[in-house]
Amino acid sequence: MASQEIRKVTEAYPMKGGDGPDSYAKNSTYQREAMESVKELVTKGIAEKLDIDLLLPSNSFHIADLGCSVGPNTFSSVENILEAVELKFQGQGLMNPQIPEFQVFFNDHTPNDFNLLFKSLPPNRQYYAVGVPGSFYGRLFPSASIHLFHSSFALQWLSEVPKVVEDKNCPAWNKGRIHYLSSTDEVVRAYKAQYAKNMESFLHARAQELVYGGLMVLIIPGYPQGTPLSHSVAYLTLQLIEACLIDMVKKGVISEEKLDSFNIPMYSMCPQELEAVVEQNGSFSIETLETLPRVLADDAVLNAKQFAAHGRAAFEGLIKQQFGKEITNELFDLYGKKLEEELSMFKPRKTTSFLVVLKRKEK
Ligand SMILES: C[S@@+](CC[C@H](N)C(=O)[O-])C[C@H]1O[C@@H](n2cnc3c(N)ncnc32)[C@H](O)[C@@H]1O
Repeated sequence: MASQEIRKVTEAYPMKGGDGPDSYAKNSTYQREAMESVKELVTKGIAEKLDIDLLLPSNSFHIADLGCSVGPNTFSSVENILEAVELKFQGQGLMNPQIPEFQVFFNDHTPNDFNLLFKSLPPNRQYYAVGVPGSFYGRLFPSASIHLFHSSFALQWLSEVPKVVEDKNCPAWNKGRIHYLSSTDEVVRAYKAQYAKNMESFLHARAQELVYGGLMVLIIPGYPQGTPLSHSVAYLTLQLIEACLIDMVKKGVISEEKLDSFNIPMYSMCPQELEAVVEQNGSFSIETLETLPRVLADDAVLNAKQFAAHGRAAFEGLIKQQFGKEITNELFDLYGKKLEEELSMFKPRKTTSFLVVLKRKEK
């Protein structure tokens, strides 16, 4: 095992666990809708690009879902992929028992609620399930052991906040703000550099773990180049959380120092950035890169509460780490109110995601 490759990433930001009303399990329908919308494209990608001859002979087919969280979304994605791979095998004239057995690896950070994940595994599943804790920015699997990687709505999370953004002595210090989207050029550059570094580590690790001819199916939130960032849903969410934290500093509920040292390690990429890192890495060809645009307007206005709950499920863990559990109810109540006001002004916002299919090149 290449132990030097297994990096320690101490920072983990799992979604809210459990299956209570605020949990990610109950508040991830937007992600689920996007995944359902790509089902056909994923099936087509697998039918056209998966190279069965290169993968066989092997009596088991290995799929890994990176950043799986707790379900139910991960189970639906795995189901869709498995169906598509089976169809591909059948299309090549293979029937049971020539079709390999499936093994599925569910990966997320160590503090993810793996107990809930395992308890809710579909009872009629047609695969052997394994949990793999650890950061996908380092090695997770033995060399050439995985046939297909999947990851949805996880690669926007950086491994850490860029150090310079938290350093009072650097021009990129992000005082009074919690993200780069409305910040200075220095802060934007620091986040961009962190994204490129993380993606390089991600691709480097996957290039070793994926068999030649194997595929990576990724759904990544981002924005098309040239779109003003202020039109995005990520901007809206982060701006409002920032505004709530500033209000709470003014009320003396949290200290200014805590706010100044808090930044969200999240990045919205544009496809050109992704293409650049894939090209630089050199181990993959881009087989598909499709924009999945969706305008978040009517449904979010009607359902500000649901939208606020999605924000809470994603960010509560991080907020708790920095400011303590005591402030979370007040913060997210305020966030819900601000969100309702903002959405009632009816400015359509874009949630854009990309479907990317990468193929491991042969030597
Ligand atoms: C928004 S959830 C997406 C979950 C699921 N894939 C879906 O589409 O609903 C993002 C997940 O990625 C995980 N994650 C973020 N960074 C990660 C990393 N470096 N390694 C492993 N998991 C990571 C988080 O812990 C979280 O569970």
